[in-house]
Amino acid sequence: MNKLFYGDNLTIVKKMSSESIDLIYLDPPFNSNRSYNLLYKNTTGLPIPEQIEAFCDTWELDFEKSELASDIPRVMQEYGINADTVHFWHYMVEALRMTDTKLLAYLVYMTVRVIEMYRILKPTGSLYLHCDPTASHYLKVILDGIFGKDNFRNEIVWDYKRWPTKAKRFQRMHDIIFFYGKSDINTFTVLYREPSASSQKRWGGKQQRVTFDEQGNRLPTLEEQTDSPGVPMSDVWQIPIIAPSAKERLGYPTQKPIALLERIILASSKEGDVVFDPFCGCGTTIEASIRNNRQWIGCDIAIHSIRLIQDTRIKKYALVEGKDYTIEGIPQSAEQAQYLFEQDPFQFKHWSIEKTGGFCSNRKTGDRGIDGRIYFEAGNKLCSMVLSVKGGNIKPTDIRDLRGVLERESDVEMAGFISLHEPTKAMVQEADAAGYYEYQGVKYPRIQLLTINQIFEGKTWYCPSVVKAQRKDGGQAYLNI
Ligand SMILES: C[S@@+](CC[C@H](N)C(=O)[O-])C[C@H]1O[C@@H](n2cnc3c(N)ncnc32)[C@H](O)[C@@H]1O
Repeated sequence: MNKLFYGDNLTIVKKMSSESIDLIYLDPPFNSNRSYNLLYKNTTGLPIPEQIEAFCDTWELDFEKSELASDIPRVMQEYGINADTVHFWHYMVEALRMTDTKLLAYLVYMTVRVIEMYRILKPTGSLYLHCDPTASHYLKVILDGIFGKDNFRNEIVWDYKRWPTKAKRFQRMHDIIFFYGKSDINTFTVLYREPSASSQKRWGGKQQRVTFDEQGNRLPTLEEQTDSPGVPMSDVWQIPIIAPSAKERLGYPTQKPIALLERIILASSKEGDVVFDPFCGCGTTIEASIRNNRQWIGCDIAIHSIRLIQDTRIKKYALVEGKDYTIEGIPQSAEQAQYLFEQDPFQFKHWSIEKTGGFCSNRKTGDRGIDGRIYFEAGNKLCSMVLSVKGGNIKPTDIRDLRGVLERESDVEMAGFISLHEPTKAMVQEADAAGYYEYQGVKYPRIQLLTINQIFEGKTWYCPSVVKAQRKDGGQAYLNI
């Protein structure tokens, strides 16, 4: 059954069976975090405040990632990864701890995921990792270690054209896609380029081939069209990026062309195979799989990505939830929210904050008592309401702590408290005692409380015009979460 997961792909992939997937394409954030920031860029014309930038920065070597970095050699040994790779990792971690902790945080994040991806691939399976020169060389070393150098198949260069920038270097106009087989029996169908007139003359014999034109569009099989077998495709792919006016464009900042994904799917899977995209974004891999009769599994940590896929790709092919595909991870009731909290408290925080239109802190432990923020405009200024989420037991000191945050943070106007449980009378009194924030003659309670039940009933924060997550190209309703 086709599946769409909302959540952190590491949690999800850990629950997937070994050797169950035929093809994995992963297009993670490129150690720049641009995508996240762009996604949340407000459309008010005001610049993104520094605090949003900091809030969205995943690549900090926090305590958790630092511990994980030290633990990876043990995990690698447990998964049977060869001793040379384990030693290499150990020395690389020690070197990067002193020179580039952001890169180390990124590599830790990627390594734990690639180890799991390797486990779930069938022996005939393949993995394509999409990245760019920001970290490609480091990632190649990690992939070689996990998959084995002999299973490296290609470094594909996606050569695209875009508007040149002014720079004292050559224009940067390519991405890298690493292609690995799980073993030497990985599925592979040779794809052919459309033959030139001269090669048509040279080669004879009718053959059935998949071909592409210069724009990367799939053409009818050669059997119907020509007698020539064509030219086997190279590892340099000239596929245009999606033009602003293109029909396939959904406005997702990092959307990849469907032609790129079709090429990967046609080369490295067969009809009926299972294709998995753990960073599925706006679902390009999903649509390419549907079009080519593959089964698919997509996963994304952003709720708006899941909504966007449902509103566009899934609608386009009239797929029915429960019959053609399932969605997992999005609570539809307070009971399911409770379950999410028990399974993954961080994801619960993430979900509940985004559900009320907020921006979530990426730090699992919160940021000095702040789990997220609501941004709103007052005058010509971007103001904020800090959010705190509690899934377990709640008490009046939680509200007192929030008052402390309000006093400490000079740039914060209000605070919101989200809980699974109903707040006690004492908590409500404590919140009321914080008074009001006043703007244009309207009084807004400085501390507001919302339960998950109330959120399901449609209740939300009471504050001046909220800045919601918007699409960069103009903002669409479905990103108003
Ligand atoms: C570069 S985009 C992928 C774009 C996609 N290939 C497309 O064509 O739309 C990366 C995606 O990974 C998601 N993401 C980041 N960290 C994640 C994680 N830990 N688990 C699942 N998804 C994640 C982001 O929300 C974003 O949508």
